[in-house]
Amino acid sequence: MRKKFVAGNWKMHGSLATNAALLDGVRAGVASLAAEVAVCVPYPYLDQARGALGGSNVAWGAQDVSEHAQGAYTGEVSATMLADFGCRYAIVGHSERRSYYGDTDSVVAAKFEAAMKANLVPILCVGETLDEREKNVTAAVVTRQLDAVISRCGIAALAKSIVAYEPVWAIGTGLTASPEQAQEVHALIRARVAREDAGVAAGLRILYGGSMKPGNAKELMAQPDIDGGLIGGAALVAADFIAICAAA
Ligand code: 13P
Repeated sequence: MRKKFVAGNWKMHGSLATNAALLDGVRAGVASLAAEVAVCVPYPYLDQARGALGGSNVAWGAQDVSEHAQGAYTGEVSATMLADFGCRYAIVGHSERRSYYGDTDSVVAAKFEAAMKANLVPILCVGETLDEREKNVTAAVVTRQLDAVISRCGIAALAKSIVAYEPVWAIGTGLTASPEQAQEVHALIRARVAREDAGVAAGLRILYGGSMKPGNAKELMAQPDIDGGLIGGAALVAADFIAICAAA
């Protein structure tokens, strides 16, 4: 049985003052819950997360990572630097990185590999745009995004990672994929992995992300192939994030 996992993606939000209350609230609110919980914070706040969450059952991570190990890459942050800050997770391939910053499938695969090499757990995001859904190419898009990582890193690497299905049209829009729509894509992802390795597929945690809220979390996470959530907006409100973790 796969243990449920809920990760908050704060995106570019927060300040030292607001984070302090949020981190303390989450730490206390999920202390007795069964789900695994993590928050992915902006780089400058990794040290604050480490201070506030150390010794708790909430892990912390970053929202991106460089594909390079080190060198003249102004503005970038390497996986070993993140590991130095006690990060366990790094999101790779978030749709906002893919669409605003040009992260191609091959860059995402390289970032995935860099994270693995530093013993971070990559959270690989995949998902189709509204246009792609309407053109009925969701399966092809998600498979292409997944295959880029499988062909670069191998199927065994996926066993040490987490996948998040985030339909782009549901991110920050208040539109949520129905449990049936989400389940269909989660099952497709698992089946694709199972074609390579049934054991890896059975153990792989696949999160749903896209306007997950306290009111819809339970129904989504009750689907057989939905193993948790990657939460944006609702992760910025301690009570909402805790309620989603409780639903898991
Ligand atoms: P929202 O929960 O705000 O839709 O964001 C989802 C997301 O992009 C998490 O990575």
